[in-house]
Amino acid sequence: MTAPIDATTTSAWAELEAHHASFTPDLRGWFAADATRVERLSLPLADLHVDLSKNLVTDEILSSLVRLAEQTGVADRYAAMLAGEHINTTEDRAVLHTALRRPAGASPALTVDGQDIDADVQSVLTAIDAFAGRVRSGDWTGITGKKVTHLVNIGIGGSDLGPVMVYEALEPYATAGIEARFVSNIDPTDMGQKVKGLDPETTLFIVASKTFTTLETLTNARLAREWLWTSLAAAGVAVGTDEEKADAVAHHFIAVSTALDKVEAFGIDPANAFGFWDWVGGRYSVDSAIGTSLAIALGPDVFRELLAGFHAVDAHVATTPLDKNVPVLMGLLNVWYCNFLGSQSHAVLPYAQQLHRFAAYLQQLTMESNGKSVRWDGSPVTSDTGEIFWGEPGTNGQHAFYQLIHQGTRLIPADFIAVANPAYPLEDGGRDVHGLFLANFLAQTKALAFGKTAEEVEAEGTTGALVAARTFAGNKPTTSIFAPALTPAVLGQLIALYEHITFTQSVVWGINAFDQWGVELGKQLAMQIAPAIEGDADALASQDASTQALIAYYRAHRA
Ligand code: F6P
Repeated sequence: MTAPIDATTTSAWAELEAHHASFTPDLRGWFAADATRVERLSLPLADLHVDLSKNLVTDEILSSLVRLAEQTGVADRYAAMLAGEHINTTEDRAVLHTALRRPAGASPALTVDGQDIDADVQSVLTAIDAFAGRVRSGDWTGITGKKVTHLVNIGIGGSDLGPVMVYEALEPYATAGIEARFVSNIDPTDMGQKVKGLDPETTLFIVASKTFTTLETLTNARLAREWLWTSLAAAGVAVGTDEEKADAVAHHFIAVSTALDKVEAFGIDPANAFGFWDWVGGRYSVDSAIGTSLAIALGPDVFRELLAGFHAVDAHVATTPLDKNVPVLMGLLNVWYCNFLGSQSHAVLPYAQQLHRFAAYLQQLTMESNGKSVRWDGSPVTSDTGEIFWGEPGTNGQHAFYQLIHQGTRLIPADFIAVANPAYPLEDGGRDVHGLFLANFLAQTKALAFGKTAEEVEAEGTTGALVAARTFAGNKPTTSIFAPALTPAVLGQLIALYEHITFTQSVVWGINAFDQWGVELGKQLAMQIAPAIEGDADALASQDASTQALIAYYRAHRA
């Protein structure tokens, strides 16, 4: 195992500390003094236009950050990942989500641990294409011969957040008369609400689980199976015998998993299951068979275009020098903000309503990846890691939490994402509403960067204590990401951008971004507590006093 390089011992880190010691952010001054700043700090990334100019960096700071990437071995680690080295050390696995979007026939061929990766990826994609085509054409039907009109994807974490985010983002492409719904939570309300109004004869469930052991997903899959049998029976379809029940499941359930043996044990025909591999992390899996719901609802061509978008960013990362490498630079800026300027969170603010689940998606991607206190060799981290990602679409956020970003005491770097062409262009009395919408995006980034001085406030006639209240300090960093339209390719590019930002930060911090041991303890304890909730006295006695009291409250109030 290659030991992580301790970033804090590098000369680049010392340079950054020195920059910080004498640092006074001055976006007004920097813009006034340098007519080329915007041009120099605006970079292309496939179809994206990324403007880094409103970040709190000088050329010297950026150069030190790039040196930090060099000295911590970002490029080598990236090459190791692409080559299939087992950089997921705690699980002894390769990390090859980038292989999921390699184009057919990519050269040189990728063989890892004896597996012909490209051949396997293409073969699953071909099978998904064919299956999606059958469902969309009506060749695949429910048990009574009716065409599928509704999909219900059952999964959680990476087996839910990616599919639902992409489905919402690309909703204008859902033109085949197939609606997708997504059930994730073990709160029975989720399943109860999502099957409401569905016709069992035209509903197809997709059980999506990498491990096929996840409590929530297997519980929900059983609930869905029971709902199917009960509702078919209510509709007069014979599902009394085991054989009839199995036939119903065969027509209305498919699965996506790395554990096809467990899929079969659940009662789903392995012929109706699409596989992937342990080298795809859950939060990196929307571009694997986990995206089957997308291939069906949006179409196989849309899914392929999404993958091509991912690949375009992979190609950029692999071939672009670090000082022009957009995901690397954005990852390094995050390191600057977290480790030197003390920011604890990072906002992602899409000016695109279709991206309303993007921040939720990024929360798993970034925080499950980089929320770690030990490095990949087991030693403690040497700096802060893993900022909190959060956000909501603009303009909604403007009327909620932007106050804190503009005038609060915390530094919150923010990424603004916008597209030039909306999916639903509408006019208000002859005025293009999208232009008005994007005026807000530009106004917010401008206000955050340049603020409003007390003199400017006074010049408007404000006096007394109100002057301070109406003053904006400015120097709040933002990155603006613009694209022509929210196409499948652009969405793939956006997702891949954040995957590589996350990876860059993980390498600087010496973290394994691909395990998630921190989620295990709660899962174990839930299994110990469940019997106590159900009345097992011994299980109750083994709980701490607070847990016992809360269980007593629950049992006293549960009708
Ligand atoms: O509990 C966390 C987690 O393991 C995630 O990493 C994963 O995306 C999610 O659970 C779902 O796991 P699975 O796809 O195996 O059901």
